[in-house]
Amino acid sequence: MNFSRIRFLALPVLFTLPLISVSASLAGASETRTTIVEDTNNLPDMDPERGKHLFADRGCVVCHAVNNVGGHTAAPMNATSLSQTTDPFDFFARMWRGADQMLALQNHNLGYQVDFSGQDLADIFAFVHDREAQENFTEGDLPQHIRDIIDNMPR
Ligand code: HEC
Repeated sequence: MNFSRIRFLALPVLFTLPLISVSASLAGASETRTTIVEDTNNLPDMDPERGKHLFADRGCVVCHAVNNVGGHTAAPMNATSLSQTTDPFDFFARMWRGADQMLALQNHNLGYQVDFSGQDLADIFAFVHDREAQENFTEGDLPQHIRDIIDNMPR
């Protein structure tokens, strides 16, 4: 799937539809809340190539394979098998389910907890939905510290 299609078709739809209903149902409710939700201009731009780097460097690839590169502790993140309509909020809400294992791995192998900015998460989201960026994802994209973790994982 072409990333620009998701970005230009799915995202506006994803963000606009709920906003219309939220605005409608909140009509008369708190003014502040409606204003915050409607201000979609503050959403970060998404860069799948940067996301590719982060997916490897921040360790997602240790448990989630892409293009058959990486570990298989959890479900692979191939754009071909992910739903086109995945909502970014839903994606990270589901990621929360794996948080316990992720934090254990990070504390054990890195000695610290990996930090993300909103921009980082947006770029990772872009990468897991972008077939083109995934097609050229290879073992060569794995930094040494991540390779070491994968090599030392129990199989
Ligand atoms: C230590 C292993 C581990 C690491 C590292 C890891 N995850 Fe996960 N992740 C899991 C587990 C376990 C689950 C629980 C559900 C499952 O088995 O797929 C999960 C679930 C998810 C889900 C929900 C999948 C679904 O279909 O509901 C997403 C999305 C996700 N992770 C994204 C990420 C991202 C992005 C990163 C990197 C920032 C990451 N994960 C790093 C283990 C990991």
